[in-house]
Amino acid sequence: MSRTLTQKASWKALASHQKKIAKKHLRELFAEDATRGTRLALEAVGLYLDYSKNRVTDKTLKLLVALAEDCGLQDKIAAMFRGDRINTTENRAVLHIALRSPRWQQIVLDGVDVVPGVHEVLDRMAAFADQVRDGRWRGFTGKRIRHVVNIGIGGSDLGPVMACEALRHYAHADLDFRFVSNVDSTDLTEATRGLDPAQTLFIVSSKTFTTLETMTNAKAARDSLVAQLGSDDAVARHFVAVSTNADGVKAFGIAESSMFGFADWVGGRYSMDSAIGLSTMIAIGPENFEAMLAGFHEMDEHFRSAPPAQNLPVLLGLLSLWNNDFLGFSTLAVLPYEQYLKRFPAYLQQLAMESNGKHVTLDGEPVKADTSPVVWGEPGTNGQHSFYQLIHQGTRIVPCDFIGFCTALSPIGGQHDLLIANLIAQAEALAFGKTAKQVEDEGVAPELVPHRVFEGNRPSNTILIDALTPAALGKLVALYEHSVFTQGAIWNIDSFDQWGVELGKALASRVIPELRSPHDPELAHDSSTNALIRRYRQRRTT
Ligand code: F6P
Repeated sequence: MSRTLTQKASWKALASHQKKIAKKHLRELFAEDATRGTRLALEAVGLYLDYSKNRVTDKTLKLLVALAEDCGLQDKIAAMFRGDRINTTENRAVLHIALRSPRWQQIVLDGVDVVPGVHEVLDRMAAFADQVRDGRWRGFTGKRIRHVVNIGIGGSDLGPVMACEALRHYAHADLDFRFVSNVDSTDLTEATRGLDPAQTLFIVSSKTFTTLETMTNAKAARDSLVAQLGSDDAVARHFVAVSTNADGVKAFGIAESSMFGFADWVGGRYSMDSAIGLSTMIAIGPENFEAMLAGFHEMDEHFRSAPPAQNLPVLLGLLSLWNNDFLGFSTLAVLPYEQYLKRFPAYLQQLAMESNGKHVTLDGEPVKADTSPVVWGEPGTNGQHSFYQLIHQGTRIVPCDFIGFCTALSPIGGQHDLLIANLIAQAEALAFGKTAKQVEDEGVAPELVPHRVFEGNRPSNTILIDALTPAALGKLVALYEHSVFTQGAIWNIDSFDQWGVELGKALASRVIPELRSPHDPELAHDSSTNALIRRYRQRRTT
């Protein structure tokens, strides 16, 4: 029987190494090696990762690579790219890498090359996107489309909304994009406020086409559109669907010709580059979408082929695992210094936490180490004026990923320099802090000295990219996808299922009729749940 993770010699070696270097401060590590800042940095496929401000030595990195080897990372990567059914609890292959494969590449699943099917859908998406963009696709009354509303949730929302925001610089000037996800009717109301239905296209995005939130919002949007345009026939010009569920789409009333499909081997949180990206393609155009896919693919090839120590996603994943499991820093702040990436932290939350928030291994045994860190974040510099106080002087240590771009897309005066100066300074301040002696030398009153001390030694990565292009976004997303994969491979968990979202869904379906019942229902929950249901029933006024 194979040893459990924490019993492996490679794991134990890291644990004892951690004890030996626990007292080392980043100040010492940098003082001992003048080249650390350039040596512990890696450039590949146009991304520069400075990981020197992590609490690691050369030995740590060697031991982390040894752990990855011991856990069979290389074989697991090969298995994913080969199309093995590595999502074992759902008996599915995991082939989002096929979504960005060039036409000439072959990826065979169950005897069938899946790449032609991917390109057939991309071609149909491109033809449709072009028609919407140039006004050939008209609404029911003959007006051109001005508003695109994506209705979806989870991976069918977070990827599209993140990408639309991230690539807004490249978006069609006369089209506006809105996103509805929450079953809270406020979301649909506000997203559609002021829109002319005759000029609005709804994209119903749902892998399963059964998700409560999406189907509820889609039906409400359809009813409202039909009422306003006065005919059921309007649906054909104002609704398209993205799904794997052709029957569900048909039952909803959307024709097959207006459906864009993808396969079950695309996980929801890995689907922004599938047909789920239709809103993105309409926004930025097929050529830019293709450039984004090429960026994804470049990172895929790097991940597949680069040796672990020179492999960006592997390194990022191993460093995260080191911080989480060996140093006990259980969260990760993702801090893009780029307003266009304002939804990137939310996107990464699903990617990382739905993938790796698991408590058992592939064999159903408890994982003996902490799995996914809690991912959170905000764009800089806004975060600096809210939660950075805790990051700098709080009692918890929060590893940070800083992300910045060397060229501004919306330059005004020298503002971009101010932005990037802040990014660089924050990483510096976290690593090196400020000692009591430095504070005293500044003449600070003795009683204030402890308040003005920054202990430093707080780890961060800095990712610098030349410019936020569609290709760069593809590379960045693939970097994190594969970093998540790397960590999941070491924990030996299924990073591609999401059973943890089921219980709440099932319980909600029991509560719905209890809230709606015209008579006081018999409640058989716990006393807290019963009381909450009763109070809601008594107090609601709508
Ligand atoms: O939250 C669970 C989940 O299944 C996610 O994995 C998925 O992205 C989301 O719901 C939406 O699912 P669908 O695209 O099937 O509507």
